Amino acid sequence: MKLFIDTAAIEEIREANAMGVLDGVTTNPSLVAKTGRDFKAVVKDILKEIPDRPVSLETTALDAKGMIEQSKQLADMGPNVICKVPSTVEGLKAIKALTGMGIKTNSTLCFSPNQALLVAKAGATFVSPFVGRLDDISQVGMDIIADIVQIFENYDYETEVLVASVRNPLHVREAALLGADICTIPFSVIKQLMQHPLTDIGIDKFLKDWEKVPK
Ligand code: G3P
Repeated sequence: MKLFIDTAAIEEIREANAMGVLDGVTTNPSLVAKTGRDFKAVVKDILKEIPDRPVSLETTALDAKGMIEQSKQLADMGPNVICKVPSTVEGLKAIKALTGMGIKTNSTLCFSPNQALLVAKAGATFVSPFVGRLDDISQVGMDIIADIVQIFENYDYETEVLVASVRNPLHVREAALLGADICTIPFSVIKQLMQHPLTDIGIDKFLKDWEKVPK
């Protein structure tokens, strides 16, 4: 499973990249707003750090024409830019047109297997089902990942399932078990994935015992 980082904070991207397990980056308007920085400056920094793996940048238009225009501008910023459009009817039209132009898309704000089916038919490169936000309204988010993975397998759709709105390590483990293509993860959760108290206790014990060894 590929691991993306879900952030617009360049320090987090740099640190995750140094870990050697980073396959891409996803951003959204809320994450960019959190940086307090100028959008173009943020994108420039991200693309400099990650010039060779997918970086998702989000459009904000509500109609297909606007999404296409914005996507063209975003795609011009780097060859690895993926244009995020919402999983709506207008988004479908934009995905179809952008795919025809060779511009890669990520259909975001996906909350149902039927939305995923349609965006795959339209030719989206990625679909982003938001698991955490479904959990927030008492619907098990990971259930739609299982459905979407199965549907895409049934019909050999090439669209990759990008599990988004990940909130904890259990989401990541389940995404991997279900065969999702990608999980996009906040930096705090990426760090949690490698934490284990027995590892820390073990290191402590080894260091204490090492002190007893004549050297
Ligand atoms: O990138 C979109 C998604 O991951 C947002 O997550 O936590 O705001 O629901 P969240």
